Amino acid sequence: MSLVYAGTCCHSPAMTSRGEMADPTIRKQLLAAFEQQKKAIEDSGAEAIVMVSSEHFANFFMNNMPTFSIGMADEYEGPIEDPEWLKIPRTKIPANPDLSLRIIKEVLQTVDVCYAQEWKFDHGMSVPLHFLTPKYDIPIVPVNINCQSPPLSPLHRSWELGLALRKAIDAAPEKIALIGTGGTSHWPCTPDSGKINEDWTRS
Ligand SMILES: [Fe+2]
Repeated sequence: MSLVYAGTCCHSPAMTSRGEMADPTIRKQLLAAFEQQKKAIEDSGAEAIVMVSSEHFANFFMNNMPTFSIGMADEYEGPIEDPEWLKIPRTKIPANPDLSLRIIKEVLQTVDVCYAQEWKFDHGMSVPLHFLTPKYDIPIVPVNINCQSPPLSPLHRSWELGLALRKAIDAAPEKIALIGTGGTSHWPCTPDSGKINEDWTRS
C-alpha cells in the first residue's frame, strides 16, 4: 500500500542492559513513549518494518565497509551481543526477502546500496524491536548506514537515501512502517562515550 507509519527512536544498549540505573521518572517517561510508539505501529496495520540503524562493526568491518546496506535475508537473528549483557534473549526475527528485493531495486534507481543475505542484528535493531515489536511478529527490512568509520556519507546523500526509501516503500503494495534509530551519545567509541548534548539533540 505505502508508508503507513514513520518514526524515530533511540537504540542505545544502555536502555536494556542497565536501564535500572536511570532516573526512575525519566525511565518511566521513556517506557511510556515506547509503548505509545508500539501502539501507533500496531494501529497502522504495518505488515513490514523498514528499520534504519547504524553500523557497529557487527556485520561489516574495515575490509569492506558499505556506506549504505539493505538486508535481503530469509531470516535474521539477534542480538549478536551477549544476551545476558543486553538483557534481550537471542531470537529469530522474521524477514521478507521478496519485499527487500523490491525495495533494493527501487532504491538503486537513485542511490547505490549494497545488499546482504546474511545479517545478524546488533543492539541497533534488537533494542528498538525489543520495545516496539516484542513478539517479533512483523517482518523486518534492515537498513544500515556507516556512521562511525570515516569516510562517511555526506549528509545530503543520506537524505537521498531517505527519499529513495520513501519512494520504494510507496511503490510496494504492503503497508510499511519506517523507523529510524540511533544513539543519544554524540561521542560513541571515544573517552566521552555516553555523554549527551541535549541542547544539540533538541535543536
Ligand atoms: Fe548506535
